[in-house]
Amino acid sequence: MADGYAAALMDTGSFCRSRALRDQWYVVADASDIASSPVGVTLLGDRYVVWRGNDGELAAAADRCPHREAPLSLGHVRDGCLVCPYHAWAFASDGGCVDVPSSGPGASISAAANLDVLLVRELYGLVWLCVGTPVGEPPRIAQDADPAFRRLTAGMETWSASATRMADNFCDVAHFPYVHAGTIGPDTDPVVAPISVVALDADFTGYEYTVEVHDEHGNDVRQRMSTAFHLPFIVRSDTFYESGPRAGHDRVLLLCTTPVDDVTSLFTFVVWRNHDHEVPAEDVLAFDRAIGAEDRRMLERIAGVLPLDASSTVSVRSDRLSVEWRRRFSALVVS
Ligand code: FES
Ligand SMILES: [Fe+2]
Repeated sequence: MADGYAAALMDTGSFCRSRALRDQWYVVADASDIASSPVGVTLLGDRYVVWRGNDGELAAAADRCPHREAPLSLGHVRDGCLVCPYHAWAFASDGGCVDVPSSGPGASISAAANLDVLLVRELYGLVWLCVGTPVGEPPRIAQDADPAFRRLTAGMETWSASATRMADNFCDVAHFPYVHAGTIGPDTDPVVAPISVVALDADFTGYEYTVEVHDEHGNDVRQRMSTAFHLPFIVRSDTFYESGPRAGHDRVLLLCTTPVDDVTSLFTFVVWRNHDHEVPAEDVLAFDRAIGAEDRRMLERIAGVLPLDASSTVSVRSDRLSVEWRRRFSALVVS
């Protein structure tokens, strides 16, 4: 760790300038958002363009044409090539510049005109982007390969909230009776049992617990759950229904937060469940959307970045997972 660098990041409270965060994977779009047109996304304060090449495979690059810096995301895709809106230079999905119309057909094109393409993956119905050198993979969800499970994606939202506050919130259950009074919360026990944080698998760190909640039909349901994080901002919540209409079934909820900048974030979630496959997708997603809207309402009222120095805020027993997330996130940011 470079001490000056670490101190500067901590002083400014701007985690987006962290070099280490560039080496992580982020969800920047729903896979269905990237169709026949290029899409511009902002990640860690910088603009990128994502498009689909001829074979349907995703491609991504900085949203800047090497000619005169026009935003490539305002262009179009022709025969799998990204075409700049300004002078119509065309770029193949490997970044190679394949057409400079003003030079005439067959003219040689300098390698300097090529785009540096970035790593982009399509996984769980989501588009994952890494703008640096990835130090790992997106988190693995074993249920995705299990045909008993149906997968549903919610689509992207933009929240005026810091990704740091969102990850902290998604690791926290103590707010359920208050923030989620309109959904799962009304009869949730406000006392949170002691939390013991462990590695739940190779990709997630979290804890297991049991709750009594209301489901979307108002049934009292006993659920065995786990909540866990995968740095930097992915949180997973697994549910095994011990009682109620879904007794014996499972559900996985993946909460994906992506920093657009320090205080603006993309949010989406994915649900896998091995029950009630006949229920329309929108009906399945509606309850989780309502829960997300409750979190959003609270978090958009809290300004700025969550202080990465843990001593700036007071934490209690129920914050154990959030505090562990923050400790590891802070170490990552300055690494
Ligand atoms: S700025 Fe893109 S082709 Fe000129
Ligand atoms: Fe919440």
